Amino acid sequence: MKICVIGAGHVGLVTSACFAQLGHSVINVDNDKIRIRNLMKGSMPFFEPGLERLVKENRKNGRLGFSASVVDGVKKCGLIFICVGTPPREDGEADLSSVEKVVRKIARSLSGYKTIVEKSTVPVNTWKWIKHTVGLYSGQGADFDVAVNPEFLREGSAVRDFLKPDRIVIGVENERARKIILEAYRKIKCPKIITNLPTAEMIKHASNSFLATKISYINSVANLCEKVGADVQSVAQGMGYDPRIGKAFLSAGAGYGGFCFPKDLAAFIYIAEKNGYDFAILKAVQKVNEEQKRAVARKVKEALWVLKDKVIGVLGLSFKPDTDDMRLAPSIDIIKALQSDGARIKAFDPAAMANAKKLLRGVRFCKNAYSAAEGCDCVLVLTEWDEFRDLDLGKLKRLMKIPVIIDGRNIFKPEQMKKLGFVYKGIGR
Ligand code: UDX
Repeated sequence: MKICVIGAGHVGLVTSACFAQLGHSVINVDNDKIRIRNLMKGSMPFFEPGLERLVKENRKNGRLGFSASVVDGVKKCGLIFICVGTPPREDGEADLSSVEKVVRKIARSLSGYKTIVEKSTVPVNTWKWIKHTVGLYSGQGADFDVAVNPEFLREGSAVRDFLKPDRIVIGVENERARKIILEAYRKIKCPKIITNLPTAEMIKHASNSFLATKISYINSVANLCEKVGADVQSVAQGMGYDPRIGKAFLSAGAGYGGFCFPKDLAAFIYIAEKNGYDFAILKAVQKVNEEQKRAVARKVKEALWVLKDKVIGVLGLSFKPDTDDMRLAPSIDIIKALQSDGARIKAFDPAAMANAKKLLRGVRFCKNAYSAAEGCDCVLVLTEWDEFRDLDLGKLKRLMKIPVIIDGRNIFKPEQMKKLGFVYKGIGR
């Protein structure tokens, strides 16, 4: 099939490379000409395991092309995926101006039948606006269908998530669009949920918000565990064996971040409000997450008493491991809180330092975990990168001024840390 993917961000580029990998002929369009030029030269705009190889391979075999022109992509392809960003406004409402602009461009480039698929995470019933706008700008008699196909991929495992998904959700109005989208995903074996368009949009909102709820829930349980002498990891394990609860997304820590959960939650709350419903549970989820970041900063303070001129070595800056993404990473708020109390920050992250440098001021970025820990009054773990689990802890201790570790992601074992002579505090245990 000939597929045009509009947007070369995380979702768009992964979608493009993976559809090419499935054997389709793909044009990935983005209005950022520099990004497109770099992609044509083989340089990736962000780090995502396995993606660079897929892009190179499919560039070579001619199945993946890049373009800065929507017209170009739409003219050549029958199936069009919209994967542009929907950033949050101040009040939480999603900013749909990029989607609207792209839709107008698609409308003006229509020639012959097209299936236009909304893949960006958007407020429920955005499909109606897409349909209306395409009709408005393409003139009478244009032949097209609008469909919804939300993306559930996670950064860091995006390629695997796309090619081996738990499910594919497809919202359509008719048989024609259903057949075309199913054909695009024919080689992927997984449950395929075919439903109407608003339901498909709601599935995405409801899924992300539920996952964020799980995280804030376990973080709340963790806070209580600390007070009563229980261990949240064992509590989560004990809960997770119940298939109605499940083991995933029950890791207590420094709170969720990234570009999806905070933004999608705010958008869902906003949509609810606009429709006259107070989504109180999600407001509490947000509040718990903000408080969790403050709680981690407080733990450092409790361990060191006065923070002024204390040196804190932060291990991990990205919002989660295996990504260089710093967007809304808990590390930003936590580091700022520590700095505002006068602490001096050294930091190391295996992938996110370049992005972190743009967001954090007054931080000394170090070449590895050991140099970040050297001379520190406290080491603070904020991202659970595997390489931190494998650190030589004896060496780390020798390098530190005093051996205090605040483990914001519970990557170390409390008994082992105590045996090694660390003053150790995790989350919820
Ligand atoms: C998320 C959804 O998982 C994905 O389906 C959707 O398409 C986009 O949003 P992503 O933001 O890439 O994906 O990361 P995810 O792995 O879900 O983690 C989000 C945040 O939650 C991270 O900050 C992570 O550290 C935190 N988290 C996750 C926890 O604190 N505890 C957990 O148990 C799981």
